[in-house]
Amino acid sequence: MAFCYFNSIPTSSHLISPDLSQKFKIPKLLHRKKRFGVLPRSSKVTAFYGLKAPPYELDALEPYMSKRTIDMHWGEHHRNFIEGLNKQLEKDDILYGYTMDELIKVTYNNGNPLPEFNNAAEVWNHDFFWESMQPGGGDMPVLGLLQQIEKDFGSFTNFKEKFIEAALTLFGSGWVWLVYYLKRNIVVRYFALILRVIDCCEHYLVVLVKREEKQLAIVKTSNAICPIVWDDIPIINLDLWEHAYYLDYKNDRAKYVNVFMNHLVSWNAATERLAYAEAFVNLGEPKIPVA
Ligand SMILES: [Fe+2]
Repeated sequence: MAFCYFNSIPTSSHLISPDLSQKFKIPKLLHRKKRFGVLPRSSKVTAFYGLKAPPYELDALEPYMSKRTIDMHWGEHHRNFIEGLNKQLEKDDILYGYTMDELIKVTYNNGNPLPEFNNAAEVWNHDFFWESMQPGGGDMPVLGLLQQIEKDFGSFTNFKEKFIEAALTLFGSGWVWLVYYLKRNIVVRYFALILRVIDCCEHYLVVLVKREEKQLAIVKTSNAICPIVWDDIPIINLDLWEHAYYLDYKNDRAKYVNVFMNHLVSWNAATERLAYAEAFVNLGEPKIPVA
């Protein structure tokens, strides 16, 4: 696993859950015919995750991301992650019943991922990715998001450069993210106490002050890793697996990344996600409830 932060190491404790209201497909339990007026009992109730569609038509991102790419990326790769996860969950009752966010954290297993982790995280990452883009995207963020970017990166131009640099320096397959987190600093303060008892002695009282600050950062993750495993709050992500851009841009990752930043990224979604995250961070809630 390889990842790095372009700001300092985040240690946030809050989690955003975009609307990942996965469609649960309840098996035919409720549709069984009554026999002798009594519903037959099932020894086991199971549910499965469904494939969530992008929030736009599959050709809506053309010419920057072709329908052909989304047909393959969403209709095949994303679907395979869902189907693979459902097959794995059929075999393992212990993991049954978690929300997707919980499932990712549990199966990440403190950096020793369980077999289900890759599929679960890739489902989450792709759902988030489709919603990180919009027709007519790109341009510039506004209001609070722009202010936060300028505060944490100096300027929007500087942020863009760092995001693109992160995408181009990611080795192999993975993701680049804009995340929001609660940075905790330990500040050392010295207080001098001058005591005049026998000699003139100077005593220093050392006090550790915990200071918290909300901040944006750019994060790179390898393969399926999703920053919610560290309790970071994702704001935007970009898929850097070759299947995301090969049909449209061959192996020209730089062109794909620039097109994403200039024409596809949804600052509307990012603004909503940041506002949602700030609301819960401000309230000091331990976790953002999952819809
Ligand atoms: Fe992908």
